[in-house]
Amino acid sequence: MLLNAWLSKKQVCVLACGHLREADLLIGKDLSNIIAVDQDPTSLRRVKEIHDGRIRLAEANAIHFLRKTAKSGEKFDLIYSLGMTDYFDSRAMSLLHRLMRDCLAPSGTIMVANFLPNHLAVGWMDAVMDWKLIYRDESEMERHAAEIGMKAKTFRDTSDSIVFCEMTKD
Ligand SMILES: C[S@@+](CC[C@H](N)C(=O)[O-])C[C@H]1O[C@@H](n2cnc3c(N)ncnc32)[C@H](O)[C@@H]1O
Repeated sequence: MLLNAWLSKKQVCVLACGHLREADLLIGKDLSNIIAVDQDPTSLRRVKEIHDGRIRLAEANAIHFLRKTAKSGEKFDLIYSLGMTDYFDSRAMSLLHRLMRDCLAPSGTIMVANFLPNHLAVGWMDAVMDWKLIYRDESEMERHAAEIGMKAKTFRDTSDSIVFCEMTKD
C-alpha cells in the first residue's frame, strides 16, 4: 500500500519518519510527492543523504506541522505514522487524528500503527529498555477513528505486536 501510493505520485505525508527505512527500496527514484516529517534533525539528515535531496523534509513536531499545513490548505492522499502514537496519550491522540483529517484529500487514507497490550516483547521493552509506551488494541484505534467520523479497518502484524488502523472517509 505504501509503495503503491508513493509510486503512483499521490501526495504522501509521513509523520515521525525516523530513518524512513520503508523507502530504502526506492533509492534513486523521484520521491518529490512525499514529505517526511520528524522532530529529530539527525534522522532527517540520514533521509536527505540516502535520497540525495529527492524527497521533501520537514523538521517539526508532527502536531505543529499539521496545524500549519491545515492553515495552508495543502492536502495529502495518504498520511501515515508508524512508531509515534505509542507516545501519545488519549487527548494528544484525538488531536492528532483531527489534524490528520483536516489535512486529508477527499478520498484520502490515514494509517497509524500502535503497539498492542501484552505483546511478546512488552516486558523487555518496559523493564530493560525503559520504553514506557501507551499500548492500544483494535477497539481503541477504532474509537479514535470514529471520533473523527472515519471508517476504520484494523489488522495486526504477524507477531501480534502491532495494530495497524487504516482510515477512510467512507
Ligand atoms: C520509534 S521511531 C519510528 C521511526 C519510523 N517511523 C519507524 O517506524 O521506524 C520514532 C520517531 O518519531 C519521532 N517523533 C516522536 N514524536 C514525534 C513528534 N511529536 N513529532 C515528530 N516526530 C516525532 C522521533 O524523532 C523518532 O524519529
